[in-house]
Amino acid sequence: MQHRVLLSLIAVVGFAGGASVTASAADAPLYTVVDGTKVDADTLTGFKTWRAAACDRCHGPNQEGMVGPSLVESLKVLTKDEFKATVTNGRLEKGMPSFSTNQKVVDNLDKLYAYLKGRSDGKITAAKVTGIE
Ligand code: HEC
Repeated sequence: MQHRVLLSLIAVVGFAGGASVTASAADAPLYTVVDGTKVDADTLTGFKTWRAAACDRCHGPNQEGMVGPSLVESLKVLTKDEFKATVTNGRLEKGMPSFSTNQKVVDNLDKLYAYLKGRSDGKITAAKVTGIE
């Protein structure tokens, strides 16, 4: 009995080590990036959402900040939920607009997060990305 418990523990640890770049081992990877700028389809949609919503006019073309803060730095500290709440509700008194009526942003919040997290992690090495062929 004890032997069997030990074996299944090892299996879980092995999976956590090999399968994921995210904090949560059970989930699929948050994003996949090859050669710094080729990304999976969802992350590419995140980039397109970033472009379409023109987040860059305040956060800068490379996400490093202008009137709005550097999201490369912000996403090292903000949780995913905090990110989603901020983008959805905005911080109107501080100049961050609400995107709750922007359907493309609302529909693609997770993908937008994945793209920006990849930038923040330094794994996506330039703002402009293309799909993995
Ligand atoms: C009109 C300018 C403007 C636009 C457009 C804009 N932001 Fe912001 N954003 C700001 C400002 C200013 C702040 C800082 C608010 C504060 O001081 O708390 C901010 C804050 C944030 C934060 C929180 C950062 C932190 O460290 O707490 C996130 C995340 C964020 N913006 C994401 C986005 C995303 C994603 C988009 C596009 C969908 C976007 N923003 C578009 C101005 C903008």
